Amino acid sequence: MTRSILFVCLGNICRSPTAEAVFRGLAKGRGLLIDSAGTSGWHDGGRSDPRASAEATRRGYDMSMIRSRQVCSADFERFDLIIAMDAQNLADLNTAHPAGAKARLELFLDYAPEFGIRDVPDPYYEDNFEQVFDMIEAASKGLLAAI
Ligand code: 4NP
Repeated sequence: MTRSILFVCLGNICRSPTAEAVFRGLAKGRGLLIDSAGTSGWHDGGRSDPRASAEATRRGYDMSMIRSRQVCSADFERFDLIIAMDAQNLADLNTAHPAGAKARLELFLDYAPEFGIRDVPDPYYEDNFEQVFDMIEAASKGLLAAI
């Protein structure tokens, strides 16, 4: 049974807060615990990237309450499922995973195989927020159908 999901990227200001907001919107009423975090603490306490927030608003999602935070060891016990945005995030999470902690680790785009790639591109550098939102919406629907 999957009742709690943590989305993780590098900075927790672009991809994972987008996934949190989109998945929260799509999973409304399902009673799931949904959160996001970064493998780095570079943007601790900061708001999501304004380019992501603007695209979220255009699509009917709300990122205004999200603040960046770093993944911590308690997350591996608190969440049933931790979803990485790319292979580097997954490798960093595997390294940080305390022995015996319950969380399963997975890659987000494995829930949207139609894109033919496994890493969500990083829009912080590539400025391709529309494309990234399309991927995150599709993967969120796939994940929701699977749990
Ligand atoms: P994110 O994107 O991991 O999708 O939040 C990034 C945000 C910030 C940085 C890198 C990636 N940065 O270098 O500050």
